Amino acid sequence: MTLSGKRILLIISGGIAAYKSLDLIRRLRERGAEVRPVMTAAAQEFVTPLAVGALSASHVFTDLFSREDEQDVGHIRLARECDLVIVAPATADLMAKMASGLANDLASTILLATDRPVLLAPAMNPKMWAHPATRRNRKTLSSDGVRFVGPAAGEMAESGEAGEGRMAEPLEIVAAVEKLLNGGQKPLARRKAIVTSGPTHEPIDPVRYIANRSSGKQGHAIAAALAKLGAEVTLVSGPVTIPDPSGVRVIHVERAEEMRDAVLAALPADVAVMVAAVADWRVASAAGNKIKKKPGEAPPPLQLAENPDILKTIGHHPSRPTLVIGFAAETENVTENGRAKLERKGADYILANDVSHATGIMGGDRNRVKLIGRNGVEDWPDMDKEDVAAKLAARIADALSR
Ligand code: CTP
Repeated sequence: MTLSGKRILLIISGGIAAYKSLDLIRRLRERGAEVRPVMTAAAQEFVTPLAVGALSASHVFTDLFSREDEQDVGHIRLARECDLVIVAPATADLMAKMASGLANDLASTILLATDRPVLLAPAMNPKMWAHPATRRNRKTLSSDGVRFVGPAAGEMAESGEAGEGRMAEPLEIVAAVEKLLNGGQKPLARRKAIVTSGPTHEPIDPVRYIANRSSGKQGHAIAAALAKLGAEVTLVSGPVTIPDPSGVRVIHVERAEEMRDAVLAALPADVAVMVAAVADWRVASAAGNKIKKKPGEAPPPLQLAENPDILKTIGHHPSRPTLVIGFAAETENVTENGRAKLERKGADYILANDVSHATGIMGGDRNRVKLIGRNGVEDWPDMDKEDVAAKLAARIADALSR
């Protein structure tokens, strides 16, 4: 858990975006953080202290002059007994107070008294955000060392007006918190990943083999995306013509059985992503010498044997990685077949794609996948294989951080 043991003081000020703070509390706690909430009077018009208290499993501080709270903790201790102060949403009003050093309620007093880092997630009407007064305040706060996340551009919940002012999404705020508190450590640092990629070649004799159209582009892109997020990646690749991704340990294999052995040797790992188009069958006894044509004789029969299912082996292995992800190359009933594969192979997620010849996915640069999990199916838009890889790597980082 990336925020294990971190103490966060969350100040919620009054804006419609306050409802997103409930989700933010949940996300922070999922990552091991302890959240102590403070609400302004205006915030309580949007969400109730009861909901905030229940989600944070903490007392909710609202009043500077509460005798009990002052005796128990006191605003100076509240301001200092934490690793970080987050203000989400941060209204124009609270920013103005901070910029001019006002302290006339609990939230503004804490913000003046704290010696901890402060992260603001502003949320306001686009005109208010663009106003010269707010721009001045923002500049002052930045030079005082206050950090910002967002706001984003988009449509406002209350007015339908578009422009900059929408509060950053809870997961973006969490990412900013992780960056601030973990010194910019990458989200998959110290995580181990195994990725398979490419086809396998199953020899018929020393010169001939059974293969498929897989290029390795998607698997290699996933290995590179995981490495970019800091993971220690072992890529087990079948025969491909694309270069090894940088920052990744690559093991080159030819046959399915070799691929399985290399994957098992790379255990333990936190995540396994099996992207290779492993040949389902091999030739039962490949000839040691080139099979010759014999005039007048029928072609030699090929006796096939089943290859090991690497994904299934990993999905049911005693040292199973925390996350096991597979692909499902389908030409019909994509979701249904993907779901069945998830169960059969003991995977947490299956990325199912339609590899009918017309889609051009196999061997191409783009991919259109459905992410099938135990709780539902997400239809991802048509994207570059690199973008599919980046999106998947971010999801893996998110899942492993819980
Ligand atoms: N897979 C594997 N080992 C095999 C066959 C498949 O690890 N021997 C993995 C693939 O890497 C992929 C997933 O299993 O992540 C599904 O592959 P796919 O070829 O779609 O499924 P099959 O099990 O071969 O099922 P079928 O051919 O019946 O569709």
